[in-house]
Amino acid sequence: MSERILKVRDVRKCFGGLVALSGVSMDVEKNTLTILIGPNGSGKTTLINLVTGVYKPDGGGIFFDGTDITGLPSHEIFKLGISRTFQIPQPFRKLTVLENLLTVYPGNPGEGFASALKRSEWRKFEEKAVEKAFELLKFLRLDHLWDQEAEKLSGGQLKLLEVGRALMADTKLLIMDEPIAGVNPVLAHEIFKTLRKLKDEKNLTILIVEHRLDIALRYVDYVYVMAAGSMIASGKPEEVVSDRRVIDAYLGG
Ligand SMILES: Nc1ncnc2c1ncn2[C@@H]1O[C@H](COP(=O)(O)OP(=O)(O)OP(=O)(O)O)[C@@H](O)[C@H]1O
Ligand SMILES: [Mg+2]
Repeated sequence: MSERILKVRDVRKCFGGLVALSGVSMDVEKNTLTILIGPNGSGKTTLINLVTGVYKPDGGGIFFDGTDITGLPSHEIFKLGISRTFQIPQPFRKLTVLENLLTVYPGNPGEGFASALKRSEWRKFEEKAVEKAFELLKFLRLDHLWDQEAEKLSGGQLKLLEVGRALMADTKLLIMDEPIAGVNPVLAHEIFKTLRKLKDEKNLTILIVEHRLDIALRYVDYVYVMAAGSMIASGKPEEVVSDRRVIDAYLGG
């Protein structure tokens, strides 16, 4: 039985006089790799920004895992289990790869609790966190880079580091904006293979925005297509690429 983890219902968003989203709906099924495509400026990033609480919608509703998250601030949405990566990766560049993961470990005692905790408890926390971080880094094949500063990583490695940060935070839905933009084809395929493996082995649901369909479409389960602030089509990859509206709006002739 399929189960929807994310439901977007008729959301609208304006920026001044510009209608960026004019009533958009979308469902993401649990444990799928879903892709959102569409021409530049069609509203893909705006839709993600609404789902992750960066912006509040002007109308409509967003539901995650049975909870109404419409208009919630982004840290609340993150706590419920939605993580995102950005068109431009935003890790802490001066921290090492390992440190980048440790900063997002759930239950991280943080500054407020730090002084109250006994040293032995800290150590227990650290051991568990480090163990989990290394397991993820191995999975992402970044373990050999664990003590490198993030700024030394290649573009593709940074994307993987962002995935690692999301997984460290026990995310249920990972949303990625253009994960293979500017990444060489070999590594781009690697990233998509890793995403599929994550989906299968870590029970993750993944929603991706991506322009490079030649690479992406073969790895995804389901496709949504936007144009000019509306959802114009959806379906399995093979259905969508032969849809006349999609060809006219996006794929070209
Ligand atoms: N913060 C903002 N302020 C004003 N206009 C915005 C803002 N964010 C997006 N827009 C406008 O909303 C429309 C949709 O933009 P959006 O970034 O969502 O498109 P996109 O589909 O992600 O495009 P791309 O493929 O180029 O990333 C565009 O016309 C854009 O200029
Ligand atoms: Mg965008």
